[in-house]
Amino acid sequence: MDWKPHQKAVELPYDSFKNMETFPLGLSQFSSSVLLFKPKIMEIEASVSSANGSNKATNLPQKKFFRQRAHANPRSDHFIDYPRTPDDMNWEQYFGPSVAGKQIEFLDVGCGYGGLLVKLSTLYPEILMCGLELRVKQKIKALRDQHPGQYDNVCCLRSNAMKYLPNYFRKHQLSKMFFLYPDPHFKTVKHKWRIINTNLLSEYAYFLRPGGIIYTMTDVEDLHNWMVQAFEKHPLYKRLTDEELATDPIVPLLGDTTEEGQKVNRNKGSMFPAVFMRLEKPRT
Ligand SMILES: C[S@@+](CC[C@H](N)C(=O)[O-])C[C@H]1O[C@@H](n2cnc3c(N)ncnc32)[C@H](O)[C@@H]1O
Repeated sequence: MDWKPHQKAVELPYDSFKNMETFPLGLSQFSSSVLLFKPKIMEIEASVSSANGSNKATNLPQKKFFRQRAHANPRSDHFIDYPRTPDDMNWEQYFGPSVAGKQIEFLDVGCGYGGLLVKLSTLYPEILMCGLELRVKQKIKALRDQHPGQYDNVCCLRSNAMKYLPNYFRKHQLSKMFFLYPDPHFKTVKHKWRIINTNLLSEYAYFLRPGGIIYTMTDVEDLHNWMVQAFEKHPLYKRLTDEELATDPIVPLLGDTTEEGQKVNRNKGSMFPAVFMRLEKPRT
């Protein structure tokens, strides 16, 4: 059965999921009947070697071998497999046996090549972290192959974060989420594809533990304003002030640890960071 893009986004009340221990499959914003029809465990790491025609898995992926559109279409993901539920996910294949009893805590949504995670990996060696990326662009596997024993707490999955988070993660599992330089989808008709919106913020609040943090960064002022407005409208988030962020070692990394950030930096583009805390109880 084909997934019919795209039911009109329905505004769900922010607390739709609050008393649910298991995320209701099919309620994701891109409400996906497909969730129920493709229960295969994902083959995750994209094969860098087959994409660049080399047999060496240790080669870092090179941009010239990946012809890609400027912005990803999050509906075009029929090639992606995913676990039916978080219980069906075998994380050992990405982290090794040491993952037993541990959970992923940091999630980089639309991680690109994974530059932020590479940095965070050494800063927080005890924490498991994961990047989700719609397109084939990952260098973490290659880095791990090149540096055995390093970057073992990081993995990148090819997946659609707008649809499949409930298939991977449990309620209140995450302590930090990152949305760095998300696709701006400039045209009004495409705003529904923006990865920060009211419905998805409710979903992210389900996966974030109270006190958990969402970091955003963009070079597009209009998108920044859109994201800030969505968070400020949502009763389960509070924007953190510069003073509150002054001692957070992650904030200085938001600008240019990712490939997109480095590009913005080279072009002397603007940077608009904004950081939000997931509240325990809704603001009144
Ligand atoms: C402009 S790039 C930024 C990448 C990275 N965060 C950086 O700063 O270099 C946005 C990325 O988000 C990915 N993306 C867009 N929608 C996505 C989705 N629904 N799930 C996973 N990744 C997505 C795109 O494929 C693209 O690589």
